[in-house]
Amino acid sequence: MKITVVGAGAVGATCADNIARKELAEELILLDIKEGFAEGKSIDMMQTSALLGFDTKIKGVTNDYASTADSEVVVITSGLPRKPGMTREELIGTNANIVKGVTENILKYSPNTIIIVVSNPMDTMNYLTLKTSGLPKNRILGMGGALDSSRFKYYLSLELGCSPADLNAVVIGGHGDTTMIPLINHATWNSIPVTQLLTKEQQDKVVKATMVGGATLTGLIGTSAWYAPGAGTATMVESIVRDQKKLISSGVYLDGEYGQKDISLVVPVIIGKNGAEKILDFKLSDEEQAAFSKSAEAVRSMNAVLTD
Ligand code: NAI
Repeated sequence: MKITVVGAGAVGATCADNIARKELAEELILLDIKEGFAEGKSIDMMQTSALLGFDTKIKGVTNDYASTADSEVVVITSGLPRKPGMTREELIGTNANIVKGVTENILKYSPNTIIIVVSNPMDTMNYLTLKTSGLPKNRILGMGGALDSSRFKYYLSLELGCSPADLNAVVIGGHGDTTMIPLINHATWNSIPVTQLLTKEQQDKVVKATMVGGATLTGLIGTSAWYAPGAGTATMVESIVRDQKKLISSGVYLDGEYGQKDISLVVPVIIGKNGAEKILDFKLSDEEQAAFSKSAEAVRSMNAVLTD
């Protein structure tokens, strides 16, 4: 198994670190445009292998796409992250050029790969990758829901006083502060709906905190987060590599599902060796469906910028 991570910055390196620790690949290529950067990060990570006991061989390269040849999974994290006060949407122009170029280069050497797009604004970057690559829609996935759902579980766990890992909770919609939809009515703790365990005030607090979860961290750290984004991406990679068929909220191309066409949005997806193997049809309330349509509208107007 060979995996490539493009972008050796905060998220890419953390993702690579998780992939290596979980031994998801024999060979892991870390590629960055910045001279020597990926090489340095890779050597640093390889120098943890004797301590952590993993056998993945990590190789860092500067823009050398030939080294990525025959990768079965490629993660794209290259692009600018947001700074305090910025929205993900403000990154669109710069990141669209980066993501398009990276996708074209990757496909020259790995024409049948599965791509996971992390760069923001993710919904639009994922759509762009779909259109640029021409790959079947099951082979392109966007990471955003894995992260937002994990944040949702974290905030729920604070109110419930339980472990985040004991919760089932998903976020769908767009991967933006105003477009994501934490499905509070579908969230459960040990099969008990959390709506039975939390007051309406607590539920609203959790939903709000989840939606601005990324911005909260950007305000505290000074740039966007990386531990949970890196781990969320590696979880998706793991489900593909080990064919785990995990249900992970992910950005996928919709062709009528949830009432939307020709757009990438986050929905519950079964992820296995073929990528996005099945989109699950959650029964949404009228209010949730209306919120989903509103998110689609916002993402669609961002996508329009790509052709402007
Ligand atoms: P970073 O600035 O630490 O790393 C980005 C890396 O991309 C840099 O090392 C840069 O040299 C590299 N790069 C830029 N252009 C490139 C090119 N053409 N080819 C190869 N490498 C290139 O940023 P960070 O924090 O790692 O974030 C990366 C992206 O992921 C950002 O767009 C950020 O907004 C996004 N993000 C998405 C999340 C999600 O849930 N989808 C969560 C967190 C971040």
